[in-house]
Amino acid sequence: MELTKEEKEMLEGKKGNAVKKSMEILVALGEIFGAEKLIDVKSVQIAGVSYDNLGDAGLEFLEEMAKDGKVKVFTTLNPAGMDLENWKELGISEEFAVKQKMVIDAFAKMGVLTTCTCTPYFVGNKPSLGEHIAWSESSAVAFANSVLGARTNREGGPSALAAALTGKTPEYGYHLDEKRKPVVTVEVKTELRNVVDFGALGFVIGKRIGNKVSFIKGIPKASIEELKSFGASIATYGGTALYHMEGITPEKAEEAEERIEVNAEDIEDAKKELSDGSEVDFVAIGCPHCSIKEMERLAELLKGKKVKKETWIAVARPVKEEAEKKGWVKVIEESGAKFAADTCFVVAPIKGRFKCMATDSAKGVFYARGKNKFKTVIAPVEKLIEIATS
Ligand code: F3S
Repeated sequence: MELTKEEKEMLEGKKGNAVKKSMEILVALGEIFGAEKLIDVKSVQIAGVSYDNLGDAGLEFLEEMAKDGKVKVFTTLNPAGMDLENWKELGISEEFAVKQKMVIDAFAKMGVLTTCTCTPYFVGNKPSLGEHIAWSESSAVAFANSVLGARTNREGGPSALAAALTGKTPEYGYHLDEKRKPVVTVEVKTELRNVVDFGALGFVIGKRIGNKVSFIKGIPKASIEELKSFGASIATYGGTALYHMEGITPEKAEEAEERIEVNAEDIEDAKKELSDGSEVDFVAIGCPHCSIKEMERLAELLKGKKVKKETWIAVARPVKEEAEKKGWVKVIEESGAKFAADTCFVVAPIKGRFKCMATDSAKGVFYARGKNKFKTVIAPVEKLIEIATS
């Protein structure tokens, strides 16, 4: 890989140890994937923030990097393992909280904005068409590439941190025009009514095409909430980081010859597959993190009601603060539902704590089953509130 004079100096350690280590990571990655050079990135989003995933080895790595590392570009974090203020209420142990705070402190020392969310585009980290970025969280990567038209690979935690500390990433994969071209056309032959249907569509397409780039036709309109649900699902079940949706993706793309169809029966079958439980004892909303519109809807649905089952609402702290100003947080909290700001029901250490989780997120179902060993029920938010309050 060709490096500039400045990049060579960075690699030789002339700009400090954290930059040297970062360059080693980026050069190794670039060589594995055949990148010719490094390119500048406008923003970074780092996953691998929960102490539940990092453990002591991850924490030590971050503290080492924080000794002399400082971010060069705007950088935000993925959800942490707990609500950084309200962790006791969510049943998080003191021991875990101490370690989680050390993780956040290490990021803060490096100049990372410690807003912990998988929807950075709701809190000011919103790239534009054609901009190169280095993001980690799979749902956010799908959203950035496909809805915003920015360009990012799906970074791991260390490579995203390396990009933050150098402002650079190797030029390969979705940074290149030829890798962004659709190779399969998906014709959607049914109407999609809500975020659950869009999650089910992501499940069906992801399972059928894996990580191929698709051109999706037949969806006349989709809300931001539906697109975040769809992107999270297609990335989870197929591993793809980019789709082109006709009329929605801002980047120009053409249909591919290979074609598949998705019909109403596929969507119904997917929803059946995503539900394997019935005795719900946990209701989880906000995967990916809730938008302000979703907060408003939750306040409407919960007004004057009391939840009878443990209910968590995952959201970015700035979105919660915005909802607070409108009076929606108070209404939601009066119902007994709990906020899980800065975190979510997948990255928090709640394995085995509940038996059956109800959610409107197809991605949430995948991790509730795989990581937390819960049974699942998938349903739209109106039904979730009915379940929570009965
Ligand atoms: Fe976000 Fe957690 Fe879902 S990180 S996409 S709420 S699994």
